[in-house]
Amino acid sequence: METYSLDFYQKSADAILAKLKEKPEIAMILGSSLGPLGDEIEDRLEIPYADVPNMLRSTAPGHASKFIFGRLQGKAVVALSGRFHSYEGYSFEALAQPVRVLKLLGVKTLILTNAAGCVRTDWNQGDVMLITDHIKLMGDSPMRGPNLDAFGERFFDTSEMYSKRLRRLAWQAADELDQNESTHEGVYFFMPGPQYETPAEIRAIRILGGDAVGMSTVTEALTAAHCGMEVLAFSLLTNMAAGIGNDKLSDAEVAAGAAKTAHRLQALLRRIVQKL
Ligand code: HPA
Repeated sequence: METYSLDFYQKSADAILAKLKEKPEIAMILGSSLGPLGDEIEDRLEIPYADVPNMLRSTAPGHASKFIFGRLQGKAVVALSGRFHSYEGYSFEALAQPVRVLKLLGVKTLILTNAAGCVRTDWNQGDVMLITDHIKLMGDSPMRGPNLDAFGERFFDTSEMYSKRLRRLAWQAADELDQNESTHEGVYFFMPGPQYETPAEIRAIRILGGDAVGMSTVTEALTAAHCGMEVLAFSLLTNMAAGIGNDKLSDAEVAAGAAKTAHRLQALLRRIVQKL
């Protein structure tokens, strides 16, 4: 196992800070096919991950590989266009990196977005789910290994990882945009992929309390909880989960689902950032 140190993350952060005019307080990690959410950032400075020492690279389809710094609704923000997943071969510990770098840049609020399968049969493809909590039955954790006290405590609380305060703001925004009927709250069930789930797994996930299923987000949310960032997370329900309906799942379906309805999430995010 590779051992990560504060210096390892600081090296990435310092290379970025040397280029920035203004430090961002809000960060957004954009999921599969949700990259266009970053297009609205003004006064932008793009930094490819490849230009940042020690930074991971995204290999997943639908993911670019760059930071976009700038202003959204007048607020200093950074978007990560392209995230990292365990199915790409990264260990959970390695996946702590982007969020720890954001912490060292001064980010206080982290907004996570993902494309996910809809486990609930009473919701619709294209709806948005505000994540209230998650289930990760895998034993692995991004905080496994020596604890870095500079970021947080060895044993840390996860009872309110997805901020109630920010969820209230998100509901206000959904209300103002008349998106109440297509917005839900629920539990994100992490599955490592890269295969989509089997219908039997989806039935089990439903019994266990999952409302949406996906292959990302939890490592980032856990890393943020460890270092004391406030997190707001959304799933764009790009497809009904396996076995609901007769369709075979494919990356093309997920991308098409995202392309059709990402504008809802985009409007919601814009409004929320305005309120932050
Ligand atoms: N399962 C897992 N991850 C996903 C799905 C799904 O159905 N859709 C988009 N990401």
